[in-house]
Amino acid sequence: MKIFSVVGARPQFIKLAPLSAALANSHKEYIVHTGQHYDYEMSEKIFLDLGIRKPDIHLEVGSGSQAFQTGNMMVKLEQEMSKQVPDSVIVFGDTNSTLAGALVAAKLNIPIIHIEAGLRSYNKHMPEEINRIATDHLSKHLFAPTLTAMEILQREGLESNSYFTGDIMVDTIKANLEIALSKSKIISELKLKEGEYNLLTLHRNYNVDDPKVLRHLLNQLGKLGELIVFPVHPRTKNNIGNDYSISGNIILTSPLGYLDFIALEYFSKRIITDSGGVQKEAYILKKPCITLRSETEWVETVREGWNLLVEPSDNQIPQKIQNFKVPGKQINIFGVNVANSMLDIINRL
Ligand code: UD1
Ligand code: UDP
Repeated sequence: MKIFSVVGARPQFIKLAPLSAALANSHKEYIVHTGQHYDYEMSEKIFLDLGIRKPDIHLEVGSGSQAFQTGNMMVKLEQEMSKQVPDSVIVFGDTNSTLAGALVAAKLNIPIIHIEAGLRSYNKHMPEEINRIATDHLSKHLFAPTLTAMEILQREGLESNSYFTGDIMVDTIKANLEIALSKSKIISELKLKEGEYNLLTLHRNYNVDDPKVLRHLLNQLGKLGELIVFPVHPRTKNNIGNDYSISGNIILTSPLGYLDFIALEYFSKRIITDSGGVQKEAYILKKPCITLRSETEWVETVREGWNLLVEPSDNQIPQKIQNFKVPGKQINIFGVNVANSMLDIINRL
């Protein structure tokens, strides 16, 4: 098959890597990069770390409002899909690149495979929630990462084209953890001690776009009394003004490459985040995770006791972080050898 894999944001490159490798022998895959993320650390560095070849098509759309960004992607994707006429389009997750790829393919009657289908936060203040619902209902084949996602797809009447595949990020971390632990120098570069720091990421619009909320979160985390390493997402960086006084226990860095980041996760005491992918990686690496959100799509991680949801407005964030204890055991939520399962299904389509 001639396949377009449409990606654009950091987590999509990480989901693409193992699938692209699996498709290489039997399909003609075009990697289509919308340009949603473009800073070296957010894009090229991740491609290099994961050994993904350069995109075959780069749309260079860049940043903008929701409609501006999605619309520009659509115009360019329509041109490319009309020219190349792929047999199938793969979209990943829930970003504006996902929605643009799905809308254009659906209108050109090209079958869509949605990787990470069936996730819901039931919070429509997230642009991602709108992107996911629309993409699931436009797609021909839905690859669900968890059993909860499968149930949601069933409830929405989409069971006949849904498959429980597991989560593709399992394969990325499996293929790269050993490499990260032997190659990354991040622990010594940041003068850290293994197990003696927290790792923080923040980029959800409702946590970082309102200066009052962001300041509250950073003030609370400043009172943790423990070291926190904080690789700052560009959206968050834009919102940390000069008037922010950041407590000395928080070490700010640029966004990190994938290998450095998973090495930091591996050696951390715990992980504090609002990222979807980082919540999953915390579970896979058996790290206590505190999610600064009122809900999560990854409900199994909370149910199993490894992930604690804390409202961003909470005034007891340091106490809640310190009191959170995880159980001794874990079940497998996210599956194994996921790219191969996906390839088996794709080969039968
Ligand atoms: C996007 C996704 C989100 C995903 C996240 C992963 C949507 C609606 N959101 O959010 O689901 O979790 O990516 O990281 O698609 N910027 C730069 N350099 C870059 C990229 C962005 O400076 O390389 C800045 C720009 O000012 C931009 C802002 O960050 O306006 C936000 O970027 P955008 O891609 O719109 O959304 P994210 O917050 O990154
Ligand atoms: N990540 C990274 N460098 C960083 C922060 C995160 O490589 O500085 C990786 C992380 O390992 C995970 C993914 O980015 O695989 C998560 O992406 P992000 O938090 O940007 O988006 P989300 O998963 O919330 O959509």
